[in-house]
Amino acid sequence: MRIDLTSKVVLVTGASRGIGNEIARQLAAAGATVAVHYSHSSKEAVELCQEIGHGAVAFQANLEDAHEAIRLFDEVLAEYGQIDVLVNNAGIAELAAIDAPNEEWIASWDKTFNVNTRSSGILTKSAIAHFKSRSGGKIIYIASRAAFRGDSEDYLAYAASKAAMVALARSVARGFGKDGIVAFVIAPGFVRTAMAQDAIDAYGEDFVLGGLALNKLTEPSDVAPMIVLLASGLADHATGCSIDINAASYVR
Ligand SMILES: NC(=O)c1ccc[n+]([C@@H]2O[C@H](COP(=O)([O-])OP(=O)(O)OC[C@H]3O[C@@H](n4cnc5c(N)ncnc54)[C@H](OP(=O)(O)O)[C@@H]3O)[C@@H](O)[C@H]2O)c1
Repeated sequence: MRIDLTSKVVLVTGASRGIGNEIARQLAAAGATVAVHYSHSSKEAVELCQEIGHGAVAFQANLEDAHEAIRLFDEVLAEYGQIDVLVNNAGIAELAAIDAPNEEWIASWDKTFNVNTRSSGILTKSAIAHFKSRSGGKIIYIASRAAFRGDSEDYLAYAASKAAMVALARSVARGFGKDGIVAFVIAPGFVRTAMAQDAIDAYGEDFVLGGLALNKLTEPSDVAPMIVLLASGLADHATGCSIDINAASYVR
């Protein structure tokens, strides 16, 4: 199987670091033009664009802010004139203990939902309008194992925000398939990034590795090839599906 994404424009949110960074690299290696979104990591985003080429440009937006999410999509569209695939990857996982003061706990829920879920919804809205004008497009949601299995007691908002992303993706798949729009969920377990490091620091490496069936932690390079396949159109009839990439740490 040969995948050629030449002439495809893909917006990857949170491409400055971690899983999104590797997704951008592998999409570009398959020929895609990647809009590299970042929030704070401008140096990493600009360097990534230089490395992967193919017309990659870095776009800044803090996705906690609804208006910045709207602006992001509009700026990418203005730059390239088309977007073929949206990858909703940017995300945060904040520890919020159940006995934290209410205001602190609620602020963490708001931030988590704004970044992980609401921004994905806003970008989805913009993408659907654009995709309808050009008879189709694809949206890939990087959710989490936590959406299906649940998470630890300190990450209630994170798990809930990811479950909401899954419902969003399924609704898009069911509601807009006749418009040529397909939607997929990727549900990783622990992946070696700064986000996983936070959990390793909080709970210890044995906790993270202990649940895996394989003897090494999943890397971003273990996740990204699936996004390339889904972006290609070869798997369009899997629309609405959720693909687990969690080293059998949770088998549904
Ligand atoms: N790593 C795991 O174990 C794991 C497991 C399951 C699911 N996931 C999911 O996979 C996705 C990527 O995670 P990762 O592990 O690669 O995380 P990461 O290394 O922490 O990278 C997070 C990315 O999201 C961006 N981001 C963070 N806050 C943002 C904000 N307010 N506005 C816009 N962008 C923001 C960051 O951009 P800047 O650095 O430019 O601010 C960065 O590019 C997330 O949705 C995460 O929930 C990760």
